[in-house]
Amino acid sequence: MCGIVGYVGARVATPLLVEGLKRLEYRGYDSAGIAVMNGKGVETRKAAGKISQLESVVLSSPVHGTLGIAHTRWATHGAPTTCNAHPHHSCDDAIAVVHNGIIENASTLRKLLEDRGHEFRSETDTEVLAHLIEEHFDGSLETAVIDALRHVEGTYGIAVVSSRDPNKIVAARKGSPLLIGLGDGEHFVASDVSAILAHTRQVIYLDDGDVAVLCRDGYRILDVNAASQIDRQVSRIDWDLDMIERGGFAHFMLKEIFEQPASVENTMRGRLLAEEGTAKLGGLNMTADDLLHIENIVITACGTSWHSALIAEHMIEECARVPVEVEYASEFRYRNPIVSDRTLCIVISQSGETADTLAAMREAQQRGARAIGIVNVVGSTIARESDGGVYIHAGPEIGVASTKAFTSQVMALAMFTLKLARLRSLSVLQGRNIVQAMHQLPQQIQQILDGAPIIERIADEFKEATNFLYLGRGYNFPAALEGALKLKEISYIHAEGYPAAEMKHGPIALIDENMPVVFIAPHDSVFDKICSNIQEVKARGGRVIALTSRDEPALAGLLDYEIRIPETIDMFTPVLASVPLQLLAYYIAVKRGANVDQPRNLAKSVTVE
Ligand code: AGP
Repeated sequence: MCGIVGYVGARVATPLLVEGLKRLEYRGYDSAGIAVMNGKGVETRKAAGKISQLESVVLSSPVHGTLGIAHTRWATHGAPTTCNAHPHHSCDDAIAVVHNGIIENASTLRKLLEDRGHEFRSETDTEVLAHLIEEHFDGSLETAVIDALRHVEGTYGIAVVSSRDPNKIVAARKGSPLLIGLGDGEHFVASDVSAILAHTRQVIYLDDGDVAVLCRDGYRILDVNAASQIDRQVSRIDWDLDMIERGGFAHFMLKEIFEQPASVENTMRGRLLAEEGTAKLGGLNMTADDLLHIENIVITACGTSWHSALIAEHMIEECARVPVEVEYASEFRYRNPIVSDRTLCIVISQSGETADTLAAMREAQQRGARAIGIVNVVGSTIARESDGGVYIHAGPEIGVASTKAFTSQVMALAMFTLKLARLRSLSVLQGRNIVQAMHQLPQQIQQILDGAPIIERIADEFKEATNFLYLGRGYNFPAALEGALKLKEISYIHAEGYPAAEMKHGPIALIDENMPVVFIAPHDSVFDKICSNIQEVKARGGRVIALTSRDEPALAGLLDYEIRIPETIDMFTPVLASVPLQLLAYYIAVKRGANVDQPRNLAKSVTVE
């Protein structure tokens, strides 16, 4: 998720653009740039790193003009370098583009354009747009943009300027948020209101297919398909800035929980092959022979990422029949593990900077294993030092408690499992079944989110609890661990996750009316066993909150609270189960007055041992 801002009017553009980028920094923060019309051409400044880096560049080398566009990046294609920072230009530098989204057919378009003599300077998908618009330019910038976008597959929110049509900004939206701000003799374009709220409260939210043309004295909105002019309603913003940066949510964690239908979709975008029942993962850098050469797999990670590793262990052994061992990175790095050149080390890390995980990966590589990273932050150390991998494309995760990264990690690991298993024993029909279940997940997550008020009411009953037990079996034992971690790290209530069957080997001694027990009990292959465990807890006076996926006569009258989740195949039940448990932890923590986004003693990325 990147941030875009543009200005056209009578004021000097650069300070307005930099200030707007700072308001968008939570959307992405690995590099930034501006392009300003300086009366002679398009002048650009870029910098890798935070927006303060760009600000220093602009202070030391000012850019003057009253029309410009700017971008803060969350890298999806190409490392977060200055060269890959937006804006990107046409061959003659006369056109500059900033973009938020993913161009799925970028490599095809790039080849076509290179064959027509266009020379590329970056690794990004966005630069394709600049050359495509150049290819179609014939005097009108908006016409060139419309003609170019007809060849584009994927998602975009873009702003474009050109010294060959110098008094306008052209903006277009498909799948990525974009709005225009209306001022007196000036107009703005932005990814969200926070970038321009200081200057106007009159905005128009563009719809998919809209192309906006902004000038000093007015604006037009066109339809990308018909190029005909359309009217859009003007909205008045009465939010305060703080709320807007969180998209209207009270906390980043809640915003990220509610982003999961989109983030799970983005993880899959352009990667699932429904017909073949497999996945294409270009960044893996492993041929079919490389994958068949693997004799055993070690997965290493920390915290929430370690929980997704446990799910992957189950997936890979069930579908690909390759032995998997899951190791805490902090343990693996100091053991004398058995690793060979036929070992694949999968390294899972949202930040890509966790010290223990990085050290564990280096240890595995030093012993001859190939390492692949399952990472969210593009260009992070683990991503750069691994031998390949899969970016999860979950977008920036600001809340310290990991939520959308977890579900996207599981999706990425499922795609890796598909790819490996379909080379081995998984049939095309089994693969298609998994792909079909994956496509269902975004709307199933949305169904769960629509039921959030029920979960908030349950949270009210337990906000004073001092202990919690989370119990699950099979794929949902890791989900129980993850649910417990969510609660304890943001509400400071002691919570433990356990395999449900382990209760009778000790923890059942803890059960009484003061010990809430969360059971993850979808109708999966071990449901009957979970039923027995629920009865054992109830027989000892325990209070039970159960996640179920259908009306269960066997549970009638047993449950104190029930949260319904949609049905899916076993391997994806933890994806759906984790969402209500994220909400339960969030609401309990809020009701306890805890600092949800920045819990005490924690950091978003533990870059020290
Ligand atoms: C999860 O909610 C925690 N923030 C923490 O356990 C986290 O998952 C762990 O520190 C690993 O971080 P990483 O995925 O960035 O490596």
